[in-house]
Amino acid sequence: MSLKIWIDGQFQSTEDAKVSVLSHALHYGTGVFEGIRSYPTASGAAVFRLREHLLRMQRGADALGMHLVLDECEQAVVQTLRVNQQAEAYIRPLAWYADGGLGLDLGKQTAHLMVATIAWASHLGGHKVRVTVSPMRRNTARAMPALKLTGGYTNATMAKLEAARRGFDEALFVDDAGLVVECTGENVFLVKDGKVVASEHPDALGGITRQTAIELTGAEVRPVSLAELKAADEVFLTGTSAEICAVEAIDERVYGDNPVTRDLSALYQRIVHGEEPKYRHWLTEYDLESKADRVAA
Ligand SMILES: Cc1ncc(COP(=O)(O)O)c(C=O)c1O
Repeated sequence: MSLKIWIDGQFQSTEDAKVSVLSHALHYGTGVFEGIRSYPTASGAAVFRLREHLLRMQRGADALGMHLVLDECEQAVVQTLRVNQQAEAYIRPLAWYADGGLGLDLGKQTAHLMVATIAWASHLGGHKVRVTVSPMRRNTARAMPALKLTGGYTNATMAKLEAARRGFDEALFVDDAGLVVECTGENVFLVKDGKVVASEHPDALGGITRQTAIELTGAEVRPVSLAELKAADEVFLTGTSAEICAVEAIDERVYGDNPVTRDLSALYQRIVHGEEPKYRHWLTEYDLESKADRVAA
């Protein structure tokens, strides 16, 4: 059965969902997206921190002069998961400008919203990752706000391509002053003498998994230099896709055992799967049996 995609209030099959080659977003990256996940739980399934993701998307939409209705997005996400009968999925909402001309002035183009829920395939392979310091710089937030604007991801994809060509799993952005920014799709933490530190940088995305990890560990939040990162006992990355992911090495620096990361990762897994009552408020639970939405499809 082909998956259904919610587009502007209607469900279409993946094969039928098409956009114009003259779409403004295709030419200039005038879109905003989110990456969200849902997980099976003992009582059904749940989306992790859905509201927070959509609020971040709304900030990106505002930056592009688009109006995003949070309740509509939230309902579209849950309906799409139900229609596709998915307990475990990667959820991709995207709002973009399409027809109305290829001028750079915004306002004339049609705005669209879609939600795709795709089968989950682990982003960094679910294993310890080998990271390299990128020769590229991260988009500065003064030129491109640190939000999930589609155009901004050319920077991340090129840095990742460069790292992959040298045989690494992931690229680490460092700024001109030697401060850690983030990876192409994850925020960066270190552990030293049992203490957790969340790297902070104005050009890094305000990650929701990062915020989760800060709340769970009571991490200190501050700028971190590459030298400090290399001198740490453990380094881990956080992201919706990567979850809590241990770093095996940064270039020639190889890290040893990672007990703090391991424990945090296990706690995170219990939380997203609904096994920690204290954090159930982070879950939007949904019922795969609901008939109403299947009729709507
Ligand atoms: C550039 C970048 N940094 C960090 C993250 C991690 O953010 P989150 O934990 O909200 O998924 C992501 C993923 O969305 C990202 O694209």
